[in-house]
Amino acid sequence: MIRVNEATVVLGIESSCDETAAAVVMGGNDVLSSVVATQIEQHARFGGVVPEIASRAHVEAMTPVIRKALQDSGIGFERIDAVAATVGPGLVGALLVGVSAAKSIALALNKPFIGVNHLEAHLYAALLDDPHVEFPMLVVLVSGGNTLLVNMKSHGKYSIIGQTIDDAAGEAFDKVARFLGLGHPGGPAIDREAKLGNAQAIEFPRAMLHDGFDVSFSGLKTAVVNYVRKNPAISTQDVAASFQTAVVDVLVAKSVKAAKQIGAKTIALGGGVAANSLLRQEITTTCAQHGWRLVLPSMAMCTDNAAMIASAGWYRLLQDGPSELSMGAMPNLKLTDRTTP
Ligand code: KG4
Repeated sequence: MIRVNEATVVLGIESSCDETAAAVVMGGNDVLSSVVATQIEQHARFGGVVPEIASRAHVEAMTPVIRKALQDSGIGFERIDAVAATVGPGLVGALLVGVSAAKSIALALNKPFIGVNHLEAHLYAALLDDPHVEFPMLVVLVSGGNTLLVNMKSHGKYSIIGQTIDDAAGEAFDKVARFLGLGHPGGPAIDREAKLGNAQAIEFPRAMLHDGFDVSFSGLKTAVVNYVRKNPAISTQDVAASFQTAVVDVLVAKSVKAAKQIGAKTIALGGGVAANSLLRQEITTTCAQHGWRLVLPSMAMCTDNAAMIASAGWYRLLQDGPSELSMGAMPNLKLTDRTTP
């Protein structure tokens, strides 16, 4: 049985979507290296991630990315104590590449394998930049596939208090950007265009604003499509700015409500949409007003990376021990409440 401590080194591997990543992390928080090879350009001309292309690109990139992560870390395979990989959620073919690589290395080194839930890893991404946070912490996890408000009571102990009932925030950004002809991924493009537009130009709906902790973005997306079809001469920048403001208004309002409900000491953002400049600005102002400590992950930690996988893997190993090697890819894996230890 492995003894997990501050010197335990985990090699993390991520391949759930369109980023092949490997990282070496010591003691759960000390990132010795983090390498990310993105496939964004390979998918851009198709307007979204093509699963078959993603799997093939992961196969090509996996070995060089792992080799570079080890080189950058300054340590060799012999110092790796455990190997963690994302087992879900994600594209099944893509996940299998990382899971197979991690299991092979674990077997060859005779070290433990740890299957990591990608969404749980996003909770830990914020802590990598700022490990000494005060709990309870509200994590606002906003990515291409998920929008979750999570009450993190301590390491590995959390419950979900709100989520999207339809589109994820990033999905809404991507769909609206595609409709506006801004390309893929849509979030950064809308963020860019919005800086040149008038956020008050169009009053788009803020669904369920005062209604519980769940969010809904599908009606907003439809409202943008209907508005632009009726007003074809409208400036794309104004649409982008007004849409972005509607999304951020909802996310910030729900975050405030949730933070009050759980008595949060800290708020952390996570997921790709946490890179959004308006969201970062608004949540910063809000936290300052309410006296909540804010953890804003660096851009590199907002988007998919393997440092967060290695970090979550370290905590999982500490709390639960290794995963079975029979654990496979779980494309539909969810984040569910976790009340232990
Ligand atoms: O977390 P992530 O890298 O992938 C997963 O979904 O797991 O998030 C990607 C999402 C995409 O929907 C992308 O459009 C969005 O994050 N995104 C942004 C920004 N940068 C990335 N959304 C809004 N503003 C941004 N600056």
